[in-house]
Amino acid sequence: MTENTVEFGGQQLTRGDLLYEGKAKQVFATNDPSIIWMHYMDQVTALNGKVKEEYSGKGELNSSISNLLFTYLSNQGLQHHWLGSISATDELVKKVDIIPLEVVTRNYTAGHFVSRFGVEPMQQLSPRVQELYYKSDELDDPFMNDSQAVSLHFASEADLKTVYGLADQVNELLVALFNKIDITLIDYKLEFGRLADGQIILADELSPDNMRLVDQKTGKSLDKDVFRQKQGDLRVGYQDVLQRLQDALK
Ligand code: C5P
Repeated sequence: MTENTVEFGGQQLTRGDLLYEGKAKQVFATNDPSIIWMHYMDQVTALNGKVKEEYSGKGELNSSISNLLFTYLSNQGLQHHWLGSISATDELVKKVDIIPLEVVTRNYTAGHFVSRFGVEPMQQLSPRVQELYYKSDELDDPFMNDSQAVSLHFASEADLKTVYGLADQVNELLVALFNKIDITLIDYKLEFGRLADGQIILADELSPDNMRLVDQKTGKSLDKDVFRQKQGDLRVGYQDVLQRLQDALK
């Protein structure tokens, strides 16, 4: 691979225009319209981008964790956009039209669920909670209910049923995996997209930037809460998560 080209699946792929820059990722077109090139940055943000810092090596950690989790999910039969890793920080994914909804699953109370409802943190939620947020940086990703999402034509009722069903499948698989490595999956955000034929699949990334992960033995956070709460270097927890996943999945 040179910096901008890579051989993938017998095809020479070239990185094209920057399509989108998020808080921790850059998304580029390639010469194949069905394939997107994603680059994980070292940047970390909190409060929807209002607090920003660079942590060298963080992009690599997130990319490695995400790649392991997507590979695990495909081995369990779940379809998603991830195609393969092409460097320590870059990967190829299927082109999808992202549904502008963030799908949050909560297995335990934390974060905004605690501040919004005044409940104690770390209480198990049974059944798990599923929530939708409208993906909009300008509006700070406001909470959105199903009928608002349907009425605004972000997704049909059938699409939402599919999305919630997929989110439940992911939850079952991820909870089981993290339990095996003594980590509690508190909550996390997923995004979904539509392939050209309309099929809805899991997209975006799966990393401690988007999840709350707590060590079952020490009670310590192993995710972005360490940065949000100024508790030190978030890479320590991310590295720990990566190491445990590598050991469990090898
Ligand atoms: O902040 P809140 O408690 O609603 O977050 C729930 C979960 O969703 C957390 O794991 C958080 O990291 C994730 N999240 C995210 N991106 C957002 C909002 C929440 O990854 N824009």
